[in-house]
Amino acid sequence: MGQKRCLFFLAIFACLLFFSRGRVLNTRSDDGRPVYNHTLALTLVEYTSAVYMSDLTQLFTWTCERCNGLTKGFQVIEIIVDIEHCLQGYVGWAKDLNAIVIAFRGTQEHSIQNWVSDLFWKQLDLNYPDMPDAMVHHGFYSAYHNTTVRPAILGAVKRAKKSYGANINIMVTGHSMGAAMAAFCGLDLVVNEGEENVQVMTFGQPRIGNAAFASYYSLLVPNTFRITHDRDIVPHLPPYFYLFPQKTYHHFPTEVWVRDFSVLKHVLFGVEKVCDNTGEDPTCCRSVMGTSISDHLSYFGVELMCETWRQCNIVMSHEMESYSRKDSKGNIFLSRTVPSTEVIETKTLSKIGISSL
Ligand SMILES: *[C@@H]1O[C@H](CO)[C@@H](O)[C@H](O)[C@H]1NC(C)=O
Ligand SMILES: *[C@@H]1O[C@H](CO)[C@@H](O)[C@H](O)[C@H]1NC(C)=O
Repeated sequence: MGQKRCLFFLAIFACLLFFSRGRVLNTRSDDGRPVYNHTLALTLVEYTSAVYMSDLTQLFTWTCERCNGLTKGFQVIEIIVDIEHCLQGYVGWAKDLNAIVIAFRGTQEHSIQNWVSDLFWKQLDLNYPDMPDAMVHHGFYSAYHNTTVRPAILGAVKRAKKSYGANINIMVTGHSMGAAMAAFCGLDLVVNEGEENVQVMTFGQPRIGNAAFASYYSLLVPNTFRITHDRDIVPHLPPYFYLFPQKTYHHFPTEVWVRDFSVLKHVLFGVEKVCDNTGEDPTCCRSVMGTSISDHLSYFGVELMCETWRQCNIVMSHEMESYSRKDSKGNIFLSRTVPSTEVIETKTLSKIGISSL
């Protein structure tokens, strides 16, 4: 290679380096859209994986196998197990992110296959309150809005804000059905709670509303990234009929499509593509047939499911009793006031937290 050519390539390389660094350093791109943060995605996928743990003691004390790595040092403030509807979520404080993290678990029905095939038939059967023409799926909406989940989450966020400041960042995440709940939660925090620093990042999210809903959503929660993995089937559902764009389900932006780059069936790495601002970028996951359930259950190589498929199975040790309360329907809440430095202190304080809920 001639010296000139060599210099030419070096220049190109330097440019690439410059521009890629520029992306990393800015949280907003030139057109004002929030910039996708790969490291944050890797961190939040670990938070989302942990919410599948059925051992509530390990989850509450953040000592579970999945509570390591990038999420180390996380402090759980509240765990919600809605036994009635088989839902689980938690709220906590991530010091290194300087943020409250809220995570929702995906469905724990007997089989993921059944849950996925039901998605084909979900109707747009609810008007989203106070948003003309915005339609959503009642089931997804209610899982967040009409269960024990919402009041417990909002209560925990209020407690956290007392300790960590009113303008704190809130990051909402979830996988699958939990991704749908995360989206409704993020929107709720903005619309009904007046929160200003809300970010949503979901993994393998199904469509949850129509085009009108998607436009409202993207205006109100612009800092939202919807990660889709290669041929994951769930982001393709409920179906999008592009001939009837006003009548069907429609994703909100911004999708980030992660394709597997594999050699001889070994996945070497994922290639991420940040998609356009329509929510339905035809060059992203929609450019392939979404047929894979296994792509749905793993994101960035992190497993997003329980260790076993057992419906709403939980384990909890006796030490947790002082933190926990049960409502009349058998739903379980583990709460702690913040900040807690000592075990003794948290024990006495947690009683206050429980009764104040
Ligand atoms: C991306 O997220 C990580 C935390 O996961 C943070 O340390 C880093 O500063 C973020 N980068 C930008 C540009 O916001
Ligand atoms: C909320 O749930 C209750 C009982 O589960 C039901 O009767 C009510 O219609 C639901 N409300 C909405 C808005 O879905």
